[in-house]
Amino acid sequence: MTDDPNIASKIITNDPWFGSYAQRAETMRASEIRALFAVANRPEVVSLAGGMPYLGRMPFDQLSEEIGRMLRDQGEKAWQYGSAQGDPHLREDVLPIMAMEGITNAQPDDVVIVNGSQSGLDLITRIMCNPGDVVLAEAPNYVGALGVFQSFQVDVVNVPMDADGLVPELLEETIKAQLAEGKHIKMLYTVPNFHNPAGVTMSRERRPKVLEIAKKYHILILEDNPYGLLGFDGQTYPALRSMDSENVVYLSSFSKIIAPGMRVAWMVAPPGIRQKLVLANESSILCPSNMSQMTITCYLDNFDWKAQISDYRNMYRERRDAMDGALREYLPSCSWNKPEGGFYIWLRIPDGLDAKAMLPRAITAKVAYVSGTAFYNDGNGKDHMRLSFCYPTPERIVEGVRRLAGVIDRELETINLFNDADAEPTSL
Ligand SMILES: Cc1ncc(COP(=O)(O)O)c(C=O)c1O
Repeated sequence: MTDDPNIASKIITNDPWFGSYAQRAETMRASEIRALFAVANRPEVVSLAGGMPYLGRMPFDQLSEEIGRMLRDQGEKAWQYGSAQGDPHLREDVLPIMAMEGITNAQPDDVVIVNGSQSGLDLITRIMCNPGDVVLAEAPNYVGALGVFQSFQVDVVNVPMDADGLVPELLEETIKAQLAEGKHIKMLYTVPNFHNPAGVTMSRERRPKVLEIAKKYHILILEDNPYGLLGFDGQTYPALRSMDSENVVYLSSFSKIIAPGMRVAWMVAPPGIRQKLVLANESSILCPSNMSQMTITCYLDNFDWKAQISDYRNMYRERRDAMDGALREYLPSCSWNKPEGGFYIWLRIPDGLDAKAMLPRAITAKVAYVSGTAFYNDGNGKDHMRLSFCYPTPERIVEGVRRLAGVIDRELETINLFNDADAEPTSL
């Protein structure tokens, strides 16, 4: 997630509107990631913090010619208001993309174009959840979704994950416990592929089980899938939506497979929900930008986007390997998953260390990461950090991990020093 660090991370003192805000605004907090950006983006800092895709390999020269042509030929449409559901051409264009993950029965009319997945998360929560309703979510959780749920005053209840993703048995246990407390469970939010931040993927075997449990308790599944086509070996997994079109709202985005600047993503939802999503999109933004949608269409129609995605996969695999290799060399005291796709490694740091407390020292040593605490709503996560390998070059990644190892080693030395001092007899 990216954001302008200069706005919400600044503390505004003497705000004359203090006390006037709606309750939902009171619960809004600058994410830990946003607060970090101001310093982490300095060139001398190796940032392993942000989830920005690397765009250096996009064919911008040729693209600008095609976009110029598009504007000349269809300028009146591009600069005009459009449909609240999204441009029909783009709604058609996303079908073959979804087919790569097994969704073959969706029609353009089932699709709603939104301003990035982030807006999709906002719209679905707005139409489904009242304050106090429960959303079940994997823990750790995508920080942007936590922000949305918080702003709608939803109770996020964590369901544990392991190396195969969400654990179905624990999902059912959690549902039963919540129902026993009289809670209204509205959705299960899941990022099944190459999870942000955990890096894991829900196994093929678990997918039907999760669907079955959600169906049994009439809980809508919100499947957030921005990374599904970024499996490093070209592997894809069947989308939950490909197995169930009635109980799943599917959300995907061009942000990671093309580029995030156009803010174009899409949702596929059962008819009743889709209708509400279109109304919510309209009341929120009137319509997604024609210019952005047509730029994406221009790219999809004129370039070999499958080759581009495959190029991205190779590039990100190389970066994942650089990070994994550097961690093995410099940080054997930590443990981590080796993700098969996506952007992130979820690093467990040695016992006794606190990723959040250590962060200022890491920034001083010119390396940035996101503390695991950002991905929990209950203060957990200080024993983990998220390392992103998407943006820096392999050489910078290795240097960043080397610097991080220096910080962790010094931290461990300090802890050991105090532990040894504790063992000394004292006469105080
Ligand atoms: C899991 C997940 N969902 C949604 C988003 C938001 O993506 P978009 O750029 O489409 O708003 C991100 C961005 O990092 C993400 O990781």
